[in-house]
Amino acid sequence: MVRRLVGRVAVVTGGGSGIGLASVRRLAAEGAHVVVGDVDPEAGKTAADEVGGLFVQVDVTSPEQVDALFQAAVDTFGGLDVAFNNAGISPPDDDSILVTGLDAWRRVQEVNLTSVYLCCKAAIPHMQARGRGSIINTASFVARMGAATSQISYTASKGGVLAMSRELGVQFAREGIRVNALSPGPVNTPLLQELFAKDPERAARRLVHIPMGRFAEADEIAAAVAFLASDDSSFITASEFLVDGGISGAYVTPV
Ligand SMILES: NC(=O)c1ccc[n+]([C@@H]2O[C@H](COP(=O)([O-])OP(=O)(O)OC[C@H]3O[C@@H](n4cnc5c(N)ncnc54)[C@H](O)[C@@H]3O)[C@@H](O)[C@H]2O)c1
Repeated sequence: MVRRLVGRVAVVTGGGSGIGLASVRRLAAEGAHVVVGDVDPEAGKTAADEVGGLFVQVDVTSPEQVDALFQAAVDTFGGLDVAFNNAGISPPDDDSILVTGLDAWRRVQEVNLTSVYLCCKAAIPHMQARGRGSIINTASFVARMGAATSQISYTASKGGVLAMSRELGVQFAREGIRVNALSPGPVNTPLLQELFAKDPERAARRLVHIPMGRFAEADEIAAAVAFLASDDSSFITASEFLVDGGISGAYVTPV
């Protein structure tokens, strides 16, 4: 394992599960002090304890709690170098525009998009104080590709994350602060496995579009997070960093 993040301080929201958890492990393995922010106290604390990091319970839709999360990182470890703003939801009541109610629309916008605004707003002043920093905001391949199996608010929220990350990357480029959107393709999570085990046709409908013929593992997304967090990506900012197994580049996939 390369050790590109020795002594760096990294905050990971949604660090208790999935992509966030894999990233907590990877960032810590590369030497970072990791602060796990999650609304789920059990999962969040378990993740932080595993890597000798700090857990802060946070609802990423709350400005006060988000400010407290980043302040805790600075108070405990002396500064902030990396913000992986990753917490997000895709609830079943976010569906086709024809059936999705305003409540579901708003909840998804709050957790997936407003949270990224709040986290960046809280993180940037700490990074300005240090004269450097890397912000990674989790978008999704659906920010650039349409799906007939719509989750309308989710897709719109990720488009927002993409545009906001680009703009922040441009605005703060000369202050040493890089901001990138990370767009994973579908990831092999327990939830996805359960869904597709019950409904193989649903899985097949998606797999046919992936040139690699499989979903991503969370570790493969975490590897990209560590790269974007590290100085190895020192000339990458305001970008959409796709880790999608080729989905967005494909017309006809191999048989
Ligand atoms: N899994 C995929 O296939 C996939 C693909 C593309 C993008 N993404 C995005 O990646 C991110 C992580 O997804 P995942 O699959 O690892 O999800 P996950 O459900 O496994 O983990 C999400 C974590 O976020 C936390 N969380 C949820 N709401 C929160 C809130 N209000 N405040 C604080 N924490 C909260 C949860 O407790 C959980 O620990 C999300 O932004 C998701 O949209 C996922």
